[in-house]
Amino acid sequence: MASQGSLTLVSGVVAFKSDEGISSLAAVNAAIVGLAQTLALELSPVRVNVVSPGIIDTPARAGMPEQDRRAFYQNIAQQLPVQKVGVAEEVAQGILFLMDNTFTTGTVLHVDGGHRLV
Ligand SMILES: NC(=O)c1ccc[n+]([C@@H]2O[C@H](COP(=O)([O-])OP(=O)(O)OC[C@H]3O[C@@H](n4cnc5c(N)ncnc54)[C@H](OP(=O)(O)O)[C@@H]3O)[C@@H](O)[C@H]2O)c1
Repeated sequence: MASQGSLTLVSGVVAFKSDEGISSLAAVNAAIVGLAQTLALELSPVRVNVVSPGIIDTPARAGMPEQDRRAFYQNIAQQLPVQKVGVAEEVAQGILFLMDNTFTTGTVLHVDGGHRLV
């Protein structure tokens, strides 16, 4: 990788906001943050950052019945400060920022609609 290059890893809000029944997902997402922060030192000057999405409407939940999926998103949306779930483009914007900004490394960019606050 070019020394001006960067890596952006994807974690998730469950690393920062506890909930029942998601312990393994929380552990994996937290591990990604630890990995990125360590790699930021080990791979320097390559920059290594993390984007941490909240609940994003993606095909990952295509297996859920449509009605259940809508109810899930509606329930999450009404709890969030931004009053909506995210879309993939919003996460992509975060990734593009971390790729572009040459003074960020070992950082976590939360693209979660304020989920970890509530
Ligand atoms: N959606 C959320 O609410 C949410 C929240 C927090 C964090 N995240 C994180 O965001 C990331 C993306 O999630 P998503 O919701 O966008 O999932 P998704 O809709 O299921 O998309 C996953 C993507 O990963 C690709 N993929 C899967 N296995 C792969 C492999 N072995 N090699 C290369 N590509 C592979 C899939 O490609 P194909 O389509 O070709 O299979 C697909 O494009 C995940 O790390 C997830 O944990 C998601």
